[in-house]
Amino acid sequence: MKISCGTDIIEIERIKSCIENIGDKFLNTIYTEKEIEYCESRRAHKYQHYAARFAAKEAIFKAVSTRYGTLSNWKDFEVLNDENGKPKVFINANIPSLEDIDISISHCKLYAVANVIAIYKEN
Ligand SMILES: CC(C)(COP(=O)(O)OP(=O)(O)OC[C@H]1O[C@@H](n2cnc3c(N)ncnc32)[C@H](O)[C@@H]1OP(=O)(O)O)[C@@H](O)C(=O)NCCC(=O)NCCS
Repeated sequence: MKISCGTDIIEIERIKSCIENIGDKFLNTIYTEKEIEYCESRRAHKYQHYAARFAAKEAIFKAVSTRYGTLSNWKDFEVLNDENGKPKVFINANIPSLEDIDISISHCKLYAVANVIAIYKEN
């Protein structure tokens, strides 16, 4: 087994600005339908949740980049929450030997952060 970590931090305001200025084109490039549904359900705090998922995808990319390549599709990785609120990464890409990805997310008024651990079956 081999593990690889990734982390990312982002200003909430940056994502809010992209959503306000680029709108659906930005949302549909970065987020899956279920991710958008989740963030929109958070109403007043939705930008924190959008930013958290952006940070999550950047952190995931850092953890898998050596096996994933440089051409990325943001929707290859979907971040959804279980019934307790714990986030889980669903992988829609074929990445050799990748067994699982674990993730932790946090956000406040200004920033969102994500930490990721990718687990591979072999070296
Ligand atoms: C769930 C909890 C940890 C979230 O912490 P918070 O400071 O309110 O909020 P943060 O911004 O740091 O984290 C929010 C993220 O936590 C994650 N989260 C929520 N519930 C979770 C859970 N059960 N397990 C893991 N992660 C969880 C989510 O990813 C959420 O972001 P998202 O909704 O955008 O996906 C907190 O509400 C809680 O329940 N604390 C209780 C801790 C406790 O009981 N401590 C004593 C025993 S150790």
